[in-house]
Order: sequence, then structure tokens, then C-alpha cells
Amino acid sequence: MLIKTQNDIPASEITDPLIYQQRRTVIKAMLAATISGIADRQVWAENAKPKWANLPKGSLSDNSLTATSAELVKSYTNYYEFSFNKDDSTKLAQALKTDPWSVEISGELEKPGHYHLEDLLRQQTLEERIYRFRCVEAWSMVVPWIGFSLASLLKSLKPLSTAKFVKFTTLYQPETMINQHSNALLEWPYTEALRIDEAMHPLTILAVGMYGDILPKQNGAPLRLVVPWKYGFKSIKAIVKIELLKRPPLTTWNKSAPKEYGFYANVNPAVSHPRWSQNSERQLGSGFFTPRRQTELFNGYGEQVASLYRNMDLQHFF
Ligand code: MTE
Repeated sequence: MLIKTQNDIPASEITDPLIYQQRRTVIKAMLAATISGIADRQVWAENAKPKWANLPKGSLSDNSLTATSAELVKSYTNYYEFSFNKDDSTKLAQALKTDPWSVEISGELEKPGHYHLEDLLRQQTLEERIYRFRCVEAWSMVVPWIGFSLASLLKSLKPLSTAKFVKFTTLYQPETMINQHSNALLEWPYTEALRIDEAMHPLTILAVGMYGDILPKQNGAPLRLVVPWKYGFKSIKAIVKIELLKRPPLTTWNKSAPKEYGFYANVNPAVSHPRWSQNSERQLGSGFFTPRRQTELFNGYGEQVASLYRNMDLQHFF
């Protein structure tokens, strides 16, 4: 495993002044756009782009991986608020207005509030993390995300010792997210959750970009969760609310089909989904004759995360 564990990371890497400097430049570009009243994320993106493209890879990034083609990742999307069809969700998501954006953070913490995304970002170090991403539909890809540590954000807001779970909620806006009007299969808004120690794990990030650019709308702009050892449905898009809770909340998929979508949803080749074996995966973008990849427990991140589940029965992970 080429990903370093937390203890291997020298402090100098965590607080790399270069990253800090680049973040400042990004934020300056964001602020300039906001202050001058140009609430256009394209302008923002153009200002920020060269800097983002040069962001150092975080020390938790698996730099040995080859990224899937950006075009594929940007067009093969699951975004059910828009459609259950991957092409349609990609197209329809373009209607989403992602600027301005604020996130309500509430529950078991000392500093609850409604935070502008820019204010949250100002406190954080952006870095590139190249992760495998495995969907329960048995396909996988490798994505170079740009984001920041969820733990860092939560710690800055001073969680109470009573905070045991973190719940995330997607925007509810049926006039734009048109499936929220018509589709009764899922309950909207989309929600997901993690145990607090999963949320605090150094591999867990909130992404604001990928492939050296801001996050495309169809991939969850402006803010999405990425938890690389869990099935993709846990990585909730377009987050508007983060709640620190005492009790485990019900989450969208778990509520709609508890036998198919467990709370943990850790990637596990030994536990099949009723409709898809999880033993192997089709690697998106690989040639027709490329054999399927053998799926790894915890999507290959076991060295980092297995200790979180030491006393649990792996057969019930789904
Ligand atoms: N988040 C929201 N709000 N709505 C969704 O439909 N789909 C999930 C997850 N996050 C989804 C979501 C699923 S099933 C997957 S596999 C990933 O997003 C897909 O991410 P991608 O489209 O960027 O590849």
C-alpha cells in the first residue's frame, strides 16, 4: 500500500506553506469574485484554475494509481435528484446554481452556524487526493479529487463529546432537481451519515474539485463527501447541511431498501448485493478485453481503516 498512514506524515507535510499559499490565492480569487459582485463561478474557476492545477498531491493520496479519463468521470454520473439515467443526470445537473452556497452546521458542537462555503474553505488546506472509487453497481474508477479533510473542518467547529454520528444532507430544490418532484422511490432530500470516527478518519474528505479544476455540477458541486473505502452512494453530493448527532440517523438508501443498502456500506467482495455480486468490478475506461478487477476489502484501504471495525462482523457490513 503506497498510502501513508497518519503517523507517517511529518508535520511539515501537513502544514506545507506552499499549499497554504495556494489556498490563499484560491480564496483571494473567490473573494474577488464575490466582493465585486461577480457571482459567476466560471469567472471564479478561471481565476483559480492555474493554481488548482498545481496543487500538491496530499500525503494520503495514492499516487501510484492512474486516473480514469476525466471525460468519462464527468459524463458517467449517478445523480438521482436529476435522473436515474447517467447521461440525463449529467445534462440536467447543469441547471444547478452552485454560487453562492452556504452550509448549515448544527447539533453537538460548540460553533454551529450557517457558513458561506468561502468562509469554510478559508480555514482549510486544499490538496489533491487520488483515490479509487467503487460503486455498488460493480464498476470502479480512479479520481484525482481536490478537497480538504473533514476532520479538520469538524475540529475547527469544536465537536462535543456527545457527537457520535455525522449526517449530511443534499440541497432540496425540486424546481431544478426535477426528480425530487416526480420520483417517489427515494425520499428527498438525499441524506447520508458516518460514525464520528469514520468522519474523523484522515482519508475522509470534502471535495470541491477534481482533475485540477472545480467540481463539475454533475459530480456534486460545489461540495461533496468522498469516503474511498465505502460504496459510492455514501459519497453524497451538493451538501447543504452537516449535523453532529448523538444517535445514528436513517439515511436515504438505507431507509428505502435496508436489505440492499446498509449503514456501513464498506466495500466488501465477500458480501453480495442482492442484484450485483461485489466480488469483482468493471474498471471504467479500461479496454474491452481488460479483465475485471478483483474487488478488495475496504476498496484496498484496509491498512488504514480496518482498525475502525475491529469488533464487527464483516459479513454484516453492507
Ligand atoms: N449524492 C446525491 N445527492 N445524489 C445521488 O444520486 N449518487 C451516489 C453518490 N452521491 C448520489 C449522490 C452514488 S449512487 C454514486 S455511485 C456516486 O454519488 C456517484 O458519483 P459520481 O457521479 O461523481 O461518479
